[in-house]
Amino acid sequence: MIMKTTTMQMQYAFWILLIFSISIASSSTVPSLQGITNQTRHGVFLFVFFAAGPVIGINYGRYGSNVPPPEALPSLVNSLSIKHVKTFDLDPRITKSFANTGITLSLCIPNDKIPSLSTNLSEAESIIRNFILPYHKNTIITSISVGNEVSLLPQFSTNLVSAMVNVHRSLKRYRLHKKIKVSTTHSLAILSRRFPPSTAKFHKSISDSVVKPLIRFLQRTESPLMVNVYPYLAYKQSFRSIPLDFALFQPMNSPKRRRYVDPYSGVAYTNLFDIMLDSVDSAVKSLGLAKIPVVVSEIGWPKSGEPGETAASLENARVFNQRLIEHLRRRWNKVPVYIFALFDEDQKTGAAVEKHWGLLYGNGSRKYDVKISPPI
Ligand SMILES: *[C@@H]1O[C@H](CO)[C@@H](O)[C@H](O)[C@H]1NC(C)=O
Ligand SMILES: *[C@@H]1O[C@H](CO)[C@@H](O)[C@H](O)[C@H]1NC(C)=O
Ligand SMILES: *[C@@H]1O[C@H](CO)[C@@H](O)[C@H](O)[C@H]1NC(C)=O
Repeated sequence: MIMKTTTMQMQYAFWILLIFSISIASSSTVPSLQGITNQTRHGVFLFVFFAAGPVIGINYGRYGSNVPPPEALPSLVNSLSIKHVKTFDLDPRITKSFANTGITLSLCIPNDKIPSLSTNLSEAESIIRNFILPYHKNTIITSISVGNEVSLLPQFSTNLVSAMVNVHRSLKRYRLHKKIKVSTTHSLAILSRRFPPSTAKFHKSISDSVVKPLIRFLQRTESPLMVNVYPYLAYKQSFRSIPLDFALFQPMNSPKRRRYVDPYSGVAYTNLFDIMLDSVDSAVKSLGLAKIPVVVSEIGWPKSGEPGETAASLENARVFNQRLIEHLRRRWNKVPVYIFALFDEDQKTGAAVEKHWGLLYGNGSRKYDVKISPPI
């Protein structure tokens, strides 16, 4: 996750528009019927719309001294009633460990491979041959992210789409392109303007050169746009104007739920998550492109941070993740999410807050109770 570059344009003035009122609806987005038809055409999303509940996965990051080995994962993931796992590499040990478990895997090609992948199709084919072909029959691999949060890094972003094209072409060669989607993850720092959500825009520096061709590729290949959505980071940046409860999804049964009404679209929001997701949709629309299915590739709340980051607490992490799951159950416009993360990663460099997002201790016991079942 990127902590630094986000510029939330959450001006005070808009929050004066917060209306204290009894909540009437849990879901603030009202997708059109056309939107549903379009999304169901994407075979991979079909189950999302007709499954009983939301699709909830989890990230498996490994920069931690106490992170259990891949072989221990399936039973730990099962203990959380989670059926979808996202990784940050292509390690065959992980892929093998999920064989015949019914748990799906989203893999990631490391950033430093992007430049060579963009010019060398054989390199892409060799990755598919070595890391996918031997395992895909027993392990359900649903997607490959080409790099992680690289769209604002010029040394990778200029090569990104051609690298994705080559990975897709190689999958196609082995007739796996329908089964395994090629995408890439983004931090929301790709938006230069996010607020009000209906006015959101991508950074000018990448909107035509990177984002447009990228989204066209995703649409052509019926793949989702993957974004990392961190209400905590938005709150942290603008905490004077965003009430903590609004970032924590506010309790459903509270008699006085805050609502924020977008002055241009008229859409009423009861939480920051929906605002952030709609800002992605608006930014896509502002490029003149059709709506695209979104997968939230990372979302979570830290249990501690730097001294003074008081909102980063075990209780808030529990409340956020629990209410997120409840919100996703009620949300009419279903969106798959991967919670960040299974374990703390104390070996991460950078801000202290980066290290404390785990749901589990290294020994597999839960840090706090989150009810995710029934598995979906
Ligand atoms: C649905 O798909 C059609 C054809 O691809 C496109 O023209 C239209 O704008 C899409 N509608 C929405 C709501 O995304
Ligand atoms: C392209 O990739 C293949 C397979 O990894 C490698 O053998 C070859 O040397 C690469 N070609 C170039 C020009 O880098
Ligand atoms: C697992 O580790 C945590 C933190 O070190 C500890 O509090 C807990 O008791 C341990 N659980 C088991 C079953 O060992």
